[in-house]
Amino acid sequence: MTTTEKLRLGVNIDHVATVRNARGGDTPDPLRAARIAEEAGADGITAHLREDRRHISDADIEGLMDMLTVPLNFEMAATEEMQQIALRHRPHAVCIVPEKREERTTEGGLEVARDENRLAHYIAPLRDAGCRVSIFIAADQRQVDAAHRIGAEVIELHSGAYCDAHHEGRFEDRDRELQALREMSTYAHGLGLEVHVGHGLTYETVQPVAAFPEARELNIGHFLIGEAIFRGLQPAMAEMRRLMDEARG
Ligand code: PXP
Repeated sequence: MTTTEKLRLGVNIDHVATVRNARGGDTPDPLRAARIAEEAGADGITAHLREDRRHISDADIEGLMDMLTVPLNFEMAATEEMQQIALRHRPHAVCIVPEKREERTTEGGLEVARDENRLAHYIAPLRDAGCRVSIFIAADQRQVDAAHRIGAEVIELHSGAYCDAHHEGRFEDRDRELQALREMSTYAHGLGLEVHVGHGLTYETVQPVAAFPEARELNIGHFLIGEAIFRGLQPAMAEMRRLMDEARG
């Protein structure tokens, strides 16, 4: 595979719902954001239905399933309730993420290696229902191997530590984190896994990751929605797309 293969951009709309929920009303509508993102060339829409429903709601997921023409990547914790919801809607993809109620955002990847049996049983019906199962993990070979063993088709590598190190000016840490992401991207691809990367990506951090030849999709939310406040969602996405294509090119 070469770096000329197109890299998909998945737009995460959770934080449109965060702003809506700050006032408890209907605006801004995350479905409207999803429609604009689709029109602006998003290759997929990502939404995380958290257990505490702090941003995306059940009705949002229903609306997205009815409305979207691009694939929905449904992020969820590995709970019974979420499995039932996913099986009811059968989104194109489900991405299994760790979730702690008190955290501000998804911190770290899923501990697949320590929970292999349960997760293998957990994802089997989702796969049988036709969902592509993705597992959100740190760039750690133990986790990649475990994700492969449980039968996931996709891994999403957590780029949060790389992005945090960059924005905090810890450049040695950043370079080490980036190297780990790069190596695990190659390693996972060698096992036959599709590789996605996401969390914390910005205009400053996206290009080294977009240049990974094995990466097929980046999922980006918080930065894009923030940037959309200043320049609109379509121009914010266009700049991200331009940077991704340039890095690929
Ligand atoms: N990928 C996964 C699995 C996530 O949990 C998140 C955050 O919800 C993202 C990508 C997007 O991260 P960010 O909002 O920091 O761009």
